[in-house]
Amino acid sequence: MSRHVGAGTGKVILLGEHAVVYGHRALAAGVSLGTRVALTTHGGPTTLGDSAIRDPRLERALAVALPAWGYRVDIETDLPVGCGMGSSAALAIALLRARADAEGRSADFDWLHREGFAIEAVFHGTPSGLDHAVAALGGAVLYRRDEAPQTVAMSPVHVVVLDSGTAGDTGAMVAGVRSRRPGNEALLQRLGQLVEERVSDLGDRPALGAAMDEAHAVLGELGVSTPALDELALLARQRGALGAKLSGAGGGGIVLALVEDPTPVLRGARRRGIRAFSCTLPASEAS
Ligand code: MEV
Repeated sequence: MSRHVGAGTGKVILLGEHAVVYGHRALAAGVSLGTRVALTTHGGPTTLGDSAIRDPRLERALAVALPAWGYRVDIETDLPVGCGMGSSAALAIALLRARADAEGRSADFDWLHREGFAIEAVFHGTPSGLDHAVAALGGAVLYRRDEAPQTVAMSPVHVVVLDSGTAGDTGAMVAGVRSRRPGNEALLQRLGQLVEERVSDLGDRPALGAAMDEAHAVLGELGVSTPALDELALLARQRGALGAKLSGAGGGGIVLALVEDPTPVLRGARRRGIRAFSCTLPASEAS
């Protein structure tokens, strides 16, 4: 019996979600939360052992990621699931790293990213690949589909993550945006432009905050925000955030607020019973 482990990093998207599905660039960053998988060899079919993730699609994801025979799979995570923080992508990368360790092969980025698409497709249908690129790389990542991701230098920023308390369904949100094309093309274009306008000077925090505010408004027009997400973004701005936007596919999940000082936003959230935490971006690769 042998034990093999792997980890994947969670992420937040600073700018460019949904537009990235249509070839625009997106900017995302790793967070210091992630998912860890342990594979223990045994003489039976591959089965799920202890799992912090409960999802009806999990069995299918294991069938895609692992051989049908030989492993007990234990999963731990400190990421909120279905909240736009890349929990399925972190799981995909953790599974692949554990499998590579078990098979004595190297888990280089190209292999992880290629194999990761099939696992992410179980959860998302047609992923751009952004989430599992960040889950594999950590740091700040500039990503365009079908191109090698670029890790970019970004000095640390403080953010507050506010949880709307409901999960969003990434596959359904992406399908919804697709069904409203081509009428929403200009909105997708604008989301992509916001990335291009900001990328040369990520150190300009007020400008990044303003771009996040605009991105939230555009995502709302795109039909992926909710009243709860709009309220969280407003709360963060009223409490001094430089900018705030939904992050991920929307329809639920989280709002990401860029702050100088997390305390007022955290206080405001807690006073209203909203789950919130602060962290520094970008966090490097989970190990
Ligand atoms: C989901 O975290 C990000 C989306 O752009 C989908 C994708 O990139 O696959 C909404």
